Amino acid sequence: MHELTAEDQREPRGPVLWVTGGGSGMGRASALSAASHGWRVALTGRRPTRLRAVAQEVKASGGEVLLLPGDVRSIENVTECATAIERSWGRLDGLVLAAGMNAPRRTWQDQDLQELRDIVETNLVSVARVVHLALPHLRRSAGTIVVISSYAGWRFSAGAGVAYSASKTALASLCQSLNAQEAASGVRACHLCPGDVDTEFLAQRPEVPGAQARSVMLTANDVARAVQFVLDSPAHVRVDELVISPVSQH
Ligand SMILES: NC(=O)c1ccc[n+]([C@@H]2O[C@H](COP(=O)([O-])OP(=O)(O)OC[C@H]3O[C@@H](n4cnc5c(N)ncnc54)[C@H](OP(=O)(O)O)[C@@H]3O)[C@@H](O)[C@H]2O)c1
Repeated sequence: MHELTAEDQREPRGPVLWVTGGGSGMGRASALSAASHGWRVALTGRRPTRLRAVAQEVKASGGEVLLLPGDVRSIENVTECATAIERSWGRLDGLVLAAGMNAPRRTWQDQDLQELRDIVETNLVSVARVVHLALPHLRRSAGTIVVISSYAGWRFSAGAGVAYSASKTALASLCQSLNAQEAASGVRACHLCPGDVDTEFLAQRPEVPGAQARSVMLTANDVARAVQFVLDSPAHVRVDELVISPVSQH
């Protein structure tokens, strides 16, 4: 299930970050940023080739990486990932939860119910699943959870879709309940809400934006900077919610 790199044999150094959706877009950018700031990064996603490419980048910059291919909708996969992190590095200090999906059919008129379930399962239930399994480890480290939600999870966005909007809006509540219930253990959660970001995620829109529209959007690196700010905040600081959007956001 996981591949240990040569670096795993070395004396542990930095804090440990588990990134879902780590093979592309904001997950990849956050992993690279964190690695360059001394974090060891564990990467989860369904496409091993994409994870391997990111791992090469991490290693090229001198970072430590653990490849954990898997589907966040699978309790078996997620449990194996959490176990592998514990076995390899013996600690967990942060989560960046970027795995997510949408679909082109987004209205009550054209949505598919199975697709609706899949979106809610990926964007909401899987976030809860990973947090649930990671919390015992995060409590020990007073860890930080960054949930990559959406502008649509902060303010209703008509084009985002029925299932997507509902799933991302619920992430605000999930983060609030974490912050209300886990303060004593020092665990902090951030509901991070990006506006339009130029990633491959845009291919799931009913009308895929062209180069000109993408040129005024955020980049994955813009969001990674915000994620790094949250991860690097002192232990007594909680960033409850962070909305980051391009100037052109409607
Ligand atoms: N791009 C935007 O405009 C935008 C704006 C606001 C919020 N967001 C949110 O930002 C997050 C990251 O998206 P992105 O824009 O960076 O696009 P992206 O590159 O498409 O990232 C999504 C990642 O999620 C992974 N993923 C999807 N389903 C998964 C599953 N079942 N199990 C494991 N991994 C899964 C994908 O990898 P595999 O396919 O290999 O599994 C992919 O790496 C998403 O949650 C999205 O909702 C995006």
